[in-house]
Amino acid sequence: MAAGQEPEVQAPSQSHTEAQHPQQPKSRPTDRSHIFLGLGREPDAAAAKRGESLYQQNCQACHGAKARGGMAPNLVRSVLVLHDDKGEEIGAFLKVGRPQNGMPSFAQLSDAERYDVAEYLHMEIELAANRGLYKHSGEMTSGDAEKGKEFFAANCSNCHSATGDLSAIGKKYPDPTAMLARIAWPSTRGPRKAMVTTQDGKELTGTLEHYDDFETTLKTSDGNTATWPTDSVKVAIPDKLDGHRALLPKYTDDDLHNLTRYLLTLK
Ligand code: HEC
Ligand code: HEC
Repeated sequence: MAAGQEPEVQAPSQSHTEAQHPQQPKSRPTDRSHIFLGLGREPDAAAAKRGESLYQQNCQACHGAKARGGMAPNLVRSVLVLHDDKGEEIGAFLKVGRPQNGMPSFAQLSDAERYDVAEYLHMEIELAANRGLYKHSGEMTSGDAEKGKEFFAANCSNCHSATGDLSAIGKKYPDPTAMLARIAWPSTRGPRKAMVTTQDGKELTGTLEHYDDFETTLKTSDGNTATWPTDSVKVAIPDKLDGHRALLPKYTDDDLHNLTRYLLTLK
């Protein structure tokens, strides 16, 4: 979709929201944006303020300034975020993430920090609703390849080489958005090795056949599979992307755009 041509947000219809959350208190009739979005309460401003800096450090690289979307989805329009009441759904989601789709897990944040980030997102929805701001910058046009080269030398060259493993990367991902996504979180879909610790302390290793917020299925080397509710087991996935995770809080938008421009020149 062309930049600036984003359709206006469709708020979830009131009846749909009620069907999902029959217990949710009704919006106060005086508050237009709360009615519009079917929200039950106003965000906690102090938590949202703390959440803002957590958001900038951990999320902005992918979800963009003010959560309006970058290489990853716009969060002020996310159904998951809109359905969240007091951070439970967002918190549970952040604990696990969807690493196979490029959304890292944020299990390393505390429950309080995940709550603060959720409040920040609710505050952004509030502000967006009040100002009618639902547009986002969409396409990437900026970036300076020379500066990207310097950033690469300082932060990436211990694992990668512009004449070695990444020498043809610009041919592999000619599209800037795809390139930026690979730099921020180069997840690969394929099978993932994991170790599952069950409630009674048994440890099983194998390949994850399924892993989301609700269910975990592991296939062990003898060919058997076992399934558990995800919140009843501990799942350890050795993370070859630790290096990339460590870089996430370091990137500014400019760094990512500069790196993208630089890597696009490697062909
Ligand atoms: C490395 C990039 C990256 C980072 C960093 C990141 N995300 Fe995501 N996020 C994604 C991608 C990609 C998706 C879409 C996943 C999918 O399609 O299933 C996503 C999806 C989500 C969703 C679900 C949206 C929906 O409606 O399904 C939420 C909520 C979310 N992210 C919140 C966050 C928060 C909060 C942070 C910071 C604590 C964060 N993300 C950091 C890439 C990222
Ligand atoms: C600690 C080591 C480490 C550091 C530092 C690191 N990476 Fe990576 N990077 C990896 C690993 C491991 C993979 C492979 C992931 C896979 O196989 O799925 C990867 C994959 C990639 C890919 C995808 C390659 C492809 O063919 O799809 C790109 C692009 C990339 N990294 C760019 C960067 C950039 C740019 C930096 C610096 C800002 C960086 N990496 C820093 C370890 C690192």
